Amino acid sequence: MTTKIFKFSSASTEIHFASGISHLKKITDPKTTVLITDENVFRAHEKRFKGWNTIVLKPGEEFKVQATVDAVIEKLIEMEADRKTTLVGIGGGVITDITGYVASVYMRGIRFGFLPTSILGLVDASIGGKNGIDVGEYKNMVGIIRQPSFILQDMVFLNSLPQQEWENGFAEVIKHACIKDAAMFSQLETNSLKTYRGRQKSICELIQRNALIKIKVVQKDEFEKEERRLLNFGHTLGHALETQYELLHGQAISIGMTYACHISEKLAGFKQTEKVVAVLEKYNLPTYASFDKQKVFEILKMDKKRERKEMNYVLLERIGKGIVKSISLKQLEKIIQEF
Ligand SMILES: NC(=O)c1ccc[n+]([C@@H]2O[C@H](COP(=O)([O-])OP(=O)(O)OC[C@H]3O[C@@H](n4cnc5c(N)ncnc54)[C@H](O)[C@@H]3O)[C@@H](O)[C@H]2O)c1
Ligand SMILES: [Zn+2]
Repeated sequence: MTTKIFKFSSASTEIHFASGISHLKKITDPKTTVLITDENVFRAHEKRFKGWNTIVLKPGEEFKVQATVDAVIEKLIEMEADRKTTLVGIGGGVITDITGYVASVYMRGIRFGFLPTSILGLVDASIGGKNGIDVGEYKNMVGIIRQPSFILQDMVFLNSLPQQEWENGFAEVIKHACIKDAAMFSQLETNSLKTYRGRQKSICELIQRNALIKIKVVQKDEFEKEERRLLNFGHTLGHALETQYELLHGQAISIGMTYACHISEKLAGFKQTEKVVAVLEKYNLPTYASFDKQKVFEILKMDKKRERKEMNYVLLERIGKGIVKSISLKQLEKIIQEF
């Protein structure tokens, strides 16, 4: 196990890599701590929650809403949680987002930490301090940027993670490789999901490497002015597809990355689309898809990354080197129509 402290502009986060949940007692006192998890995680790991005050929520994105926040707050009041209470989110991104958000508003803000249990949670959602909830069809519409005090990474939870969620999380891993880490991309080409699922050491290293990529990007640009935008590779078109079709987030951004590669060929001299597509397919993610281009473009136009008539689009110069380029909506529409 290694513990490292990462400084962000607003606060610091202690990350306990390859740690065990038993270590949690050393970080936070069970008497003044409330764990928040979902039914899937709780059922599969019930014995690990023994001796801790725990709130168990229903699983799924549809519960990442204000009504759940209200229910958690009522429960905290009932439990007599006060300013000295620490909240720990143990689950996927839905649970860590809710936990961080509740902890930021309960009594104007209390201490919180995460123990992410999904690949997506480990490499992405638990890191960077964005905590939010959905409002109607608008994802992450309400929220706050506030860093957790600690993150504990315990791989034992992955034993119960369904195959589909492994694939979903690997889309973000491949994204990190594309924008920042050519060597990791080669490693992903050589290995497979089976190698990572079967070897504790290799998944542990991969997750740590990915967590560090995201941390570094966020450290440079916590409030998303420039560098942090790179993390949106595949997400502009991906989000539009996710809204329009029944896709998992990882599947949607995988298709988004595929087309972003083609746009990169046109506008940034990128020449490695086939390699990216091959890796996505190797990890069982969808690449080319037929979709209603006009409808998807209409949704895409409303993206948060739009600035008047221009869109900041993340492209690749080469594998391992992502860039942000401003594309006019007109040009983007033309390119999408040509797909
Ligand atoms: N805050 C951020 O910066 C950030 C970044 C990326 C994504 N997110 C958010 O994260 C969410 C997606 O995260 P996710 O994919 O982890 O979703 P999730 O929390 O819904 O988890 C996916 C599914 O896996 C189950 N699960 C999780 N860990 C498990 C385990 N160890 N064993 C068995 N089942 C397990 C969950 O119960 C759920 O059914 C979205 O709401 C997204 O907006 C936030
Ligand atoms: Zn994502």
